[in-house]
Amino acid sequence: MCGIVGYIGVKDARSIILEGLKALEYRGYDSSGLALLDKNEFKIYKDKGRIAHLCEITDYSFETHVGIGHTRWATHGMVNYDNSHPHISNNKRFILVHNGIIENYRKLKIDYLSDYNFYSETDSEVIVNLIEFYSKKMCTDSAIRKAMSKLEGSYALLIVDNENPDVIYCVKNKTPLILGMSNDGVTIASDIIAFPKDVNKYFIFEDQRIAIIKQNDVKIMDLMGFEIKPEFKDLKLDEYNISKGNYDHYMLKEIEEQPDVIRRIITKYFDDDNAVIDYKLIDAINNSDKINFVACGTSLYASFMGKYFFEKLCGIPTECFVASELVYSNPLMTKKPIFIFVSQSGETLDCITVMKKYKQQGFKIISITNSVESTMAHYSDFVLDICANTEISVASTKSYTASIAVMSILAKAVSNKKTNLKNNLNRVSQVIEDIIVDLKPLVKDMAKKIQNSKAIFYIGRGIDYWAGDEAALKLKEISYINTDSYSSGELKHGTIALIEDGTPVIAIITQEGTNSIIRSNLAEAEARGAKGYVISLESLAYSKDDIIIPNVAHYLTPMVSVVVCQMLAYYVALYKNNDIDKPKNLAKSVTVE
Ligand code: G6P
Repeated sequence: MCGIVGYIGVKDARSIILEGLKALEYRGYDSSGLALLDKNEFKIYKDKGRIAHLCEITDYSFETHVGIGHTRWATHGMVNYDNSHPHISNNKRFILVHNGIIENYRKLKIDYLSDYNFYSETDSEVIVNLIEFYSKKMCTDSAIRKAMSKLEGSYALLIVDNENPDVIYCVKNKTPLILGMSNDGVTIASDIIAFPKDVNKYFIFEDQRIAIIKQNDVKIMDLMGFEIKPEFKDLKLDEYNISKGNYDHYMLKEIEEQPDVIRRIITKYFDDDNAVIDYKLIDAINNSDKINFVACGTSLYASFMGKYFFEKLCGIPTECFVASELVYSNPLMTKKPIFIFVSQSGETLDCITVMKKYKQQGFKIISITNSVESTMAHYSDFVLDICANTEISVASTKSYTASIAVMSILAKAVSNKKTNLKNNLNRVSQVIEDIIVDLKPLVKDMAKKIQNSKAIFYIGRGIDYWAGDEAALKLKEISYINTDSYSSGELKHGTIALIEDGTPVIAIITQEGTNSIIRSNLAEAEARGAKGYVISLESLAYSKDDIIIPNVAHYLTPMVSVVVCQMLAYYVALYKNNDIDKPKNLAKSVTVE
């Protein structure tokens, strides 16, 4: 994880890097730091804590036009000053920031750096000293390439050299790095949203490359030292609007953006009532004998709805895989599977690793993502944009509903059946608006009642159970209450032992066939002391139900029931005074295994 930003140009490097780091805080916020060129020497400012603290400890008294910065999500070593980036080599010549994990750093220390002192527990400090080690025998870019050839793992690195301070070197393997050009400088960052507004061209840095960046001059080489011509693309930064507007938190803003996101998806993917999807993609799915969804976290829970659509509408057997499980296991594949990766960021390393593995085996790859310029998009045969615009809050909200909407449209296009999907999605967007306005007081009331609970359970069956998985994830990640989701039928096979007096058990009920059985299961929990709550669809509701959602098509109900649960999680966290957009221990984009 971690976020890195570097700038070289005529503008104030300090403010560009600090602003960039603020935009990248979603990638990790345990500690932060920067190195800024003051005349002919880099000065380092770093500490544990957030960018706001870094702003306080940074010296503003000198002019600076070159610098590199870092915001950390700790992987190796505690959260403290020494482990914060930048790291400096023993002879104080090289300074570096690193995003990623070097798997063989202990061996490198023993093999090459036994005479070196280490002041941190990080793998990153090994890299900077390895560069110093080789620099004694060769020029800087050769030393960096040589060091790279020894590194195993993932890395995006920005390196500066006190002996040649008008250059930033950047290298990458597996971890994202994007280079942006404006008329007066070059910015390099983990994500486009860290670029200053005047960046008008960018390119995505490929693996196993080194860039030597001077003001308005970028030279790219491969590991052998052969020059490669970068292909720049035009950039419109309004697409990356990340302002919080009038909201106190991105999460609430993003929850409330959902109706617009769904309408945007409808506009993009429908021509009248027909779903418009690349026919080659449709052929690829039709020629496969099984669909395998691969994803993590919220995107995984959204994928269960993809399975539902493809099996029900298209009759294609579909399975959902946890990406990290597929990295090390090799489940039996059918003859012609197709893989659909779902990822908001498009940068989740477990997904990328699995994607490369199955691509190498010759299977077709589809990505459903919010980042069409991401690494995953880059490796995919087909990419479907979920059109959610940048999602900042670590807890995903709009990307869940947007992914489901896109999956439903894809399944419709593959099935070639006449459905009322477009109207039904429009209806979903209206109902989400109603939920946001009309149901908010009820949700707040429920949040007050459950905020001090030790544990909470969501229950449901079928698609309500999958919605419960996402609902539980939202609640636990920002309220820190131990929340889990169970198939209501499974509750009595063990988990019911955890029910104590007043334990909230929240039933999601949106499907006719399972309405009464979920209510019976809830009654079983209540008989053992649980405090039952019901979130139900209007057509199935009992008058005493706690939250009653206006009707939507039965196959799209998670898109509305989860919105209630997103709001519930938000208000519980708000009442507990938690850091809603940046919950503890988490990061939005998980670029480590
Ligand atoms: C992290 C985030 C989750 C997200 C998951 C998958 O764990 O905290 O919110 O759902 O990664 O991310 P992706 O970008 O692949 O959808």
